[in-house]
Amino acid sequence: MAIIAICNQKGGCGKTSIAINLAQAFATNGKDVLLLDMDPQGSASDWRSIALGSGPAFDVREIERSDLLRQARALRQIHDVIIVDCPPQYAQPSSAAIRVADLVLVPVQPSPFDVWSTHAIVDLIKARQEATQGKPLAAYVVSRAISNTTLQRSLSEALSQQSLPVLSSGTTQRVAYATTAAQGKTVFDGRPTTARREIEAMHEEIKEMLNDDE
Ligand SMILES: Nc1ncnc2c1ncn2[C@@H]1O[C@H](COP(=O)(O)OP(=O)(O)OP(=O)(O)O)[C@@H](O)[C@H]1O
Ligand SMILES: [Mg+2]
Repeated sequence: MAIIAICNQKGGCGKTSIAINLAQAFATNGKDVLLLDMDPQGSASDWRSIALGSGPAFDVREIERSDLLRQARALRQIHDVIIVDCPPQYAQPSSAAIRVADLVLVPVQPSPFDVWSTHAIVDLIKARQEATQGKPLAAYVVSRAISNTTLQRSLSEALSQQSLPVLSSGTTQRVAYATTAAQGKTVFDGRPTTARREIEAMHEEIKEMLNDDE
């Protein structure tokens, strides 16, 4: 079905949290999911290893840039959805992920500085789109939002000056993201929370984007 790359050179903006929870959302909906960890920090792989037997319903595999480029086509034949968790660098790993992706998500925290700092990754995406008649699809996803109307206004303004669309779904600052991750779990474990509804909404929105593109 699709390769979804989650990229932003900014550290700590929520890439891995979105990657693991979105992977679980697709798996919960019966898809064969593979999560590829391109980050030498290995956060997603560490998360997988603490889950032991009771872990998520998908594999997590570490992969390097050259292997991603070489194996993407074959992996696409095997899995319904491949999610690529990129490291906090914009150059080589992210450009490989953007190259093989159908959709690139750029998580961005609700600060104009964080939006402005995405210009390098957005340039990479735009260059790829220009070379391939508009592929991959790409969008910002607001991550770790806090309810503050002044902040929301300046964020919307900063985002509207950029050349990528913004998903209407996103994550807000919720302790459930950190507590579930610390146990090798996702927001789909335990009782339904706002965090889970946020990821479900993101999953729905992404499915629609990918279907519309077929
Ligand atoms: N919506 C959220 N609410 C609360 N905490 C969050 C949220 N999203 C992420 N976090 C926490 O913020 C920290 C950074 O998140 P995460 O590791 O997902 O970011 P990252 O972009 O992958 O970081 P890196 O660039 O280092 O790979 C983690 O401790 C995570 O649990
Ligand atoms: Mg990460």
